[in-house]
Amino acid sequence: MLLKTTRACDVRESQVTDESLYIARRKFMQGTAALAGASMLPASSLWPQPAGAAISIGDVEKSVFSTAEELNSFEDITSYNNFYELGLKKGDPKRNADRLVTEPWSIRVEGECDKPGDYDLEDFIPAPRLEERIYRLRCVEAWSMVIPWVGVELGPVLKRFEPTSKAKYVQFFTLYDPKNLPGQRRSVLDWPYREGLRMDEAMHPLTILAVGLYGKELPNQNGAPLRLVVPWKYGFKSIKSIVRIRFTQSEPATSWNQSAPREYGFYSNVNPAVNHPRWSQKRERRIGEILKRKTLPFNGYAEQVAGLYAGMDLKKHF
Ligand code: MTE
Repeated sequence: MLLKTTRACDVRESQVTDESLYIARRKFMQGTAALAGASMLPASSLWPQPAGAAISIGDVEKSVFSTAEELNSFEDITSYNNFYELGLKKGDPKRNADRLVTEPWSIRVEGECDKPGDYDLEDFIPAPRLEERIYRLRCVEAWSMVIPWVGVELGPVLKRFEPTSKAKYVQFFTLYDPKNLPGQRRSVLDWPYREGLRMDEAMHPLTILAVGLYGKELPNQNGAPLRLVVPWKYGFKSIKSIVRIRFTQSEPATSWNQSAPREYGFYSNVNPAVNHPRWSQKRERRIGEILKRKTLPFNGYAEQVAGLYAGMDLKKHF
């Protein structure tokens, strides 16, 4: 995603270093038995751990929504990233992963709902039914991956805050911490990163909040401790490291749309029939493969989600 050629989602792959990344341990991921045990562990074991010791997540159910396609490797998924707060090049987020401080973490819920407030992560998702959701992620830069996320459906989480009848949209914000996050000291985007969904998109069973991948806690570069995953939309809708959720009456501002409205619409459904003004969206390169493949409408999830947009001109609402 480019505003000018040097500052966008299509900055090309760069060198990756092997520096350790740090992953915050989260009590709620350990399963019920482990959960009770974890709270009795010495404090030090609850704090960030080196990547080699990435924490495995307890009970995770398989999901009927998973694709059977071949997975990208853990290495691909965690070293080829877009996370502008941690740098513009694909290897930067892994290299700078320890700059993202994920302990303590709380999420502010506000706007059109009856239960606004500041929630600790563990209260925000109190008793999660964690599922493995193997989804295709199609980046607007015309590459894709297949990622085994671990997460919870967003809809039931949002319902707990009792959105009012005026809540037509939901907006999400990433942590704003320019002291630690090097990317936020540059005016690439109007920070903090923000995204939004229409309520019916947010409540759709395919939409998840991910807390892990490959059966382990989410590495920082992938948006620890909590990120959105909306598999039928371009990857930039899947906002990382969420700290604020706001229910709104009207369409909320989103970072890339604010930066370049002609290039990035609010909906951003994967659509091979609508080119980006500067490149085609007809094909994509699966990371790890040489030949390109066809991009599918709604990233292959048309059967499940096309109905959400019945009657809408998707060339206009791109
Ligand atoms: N969220 C934040 N806060 N900052 C970002 O730069 N990049 C987006 C999205 N979420 C981004 C973000 C883009 S462009 C993509 S393609 C996906 O994250 C990449 O997710 P991944 O690095 O886990 O594959």
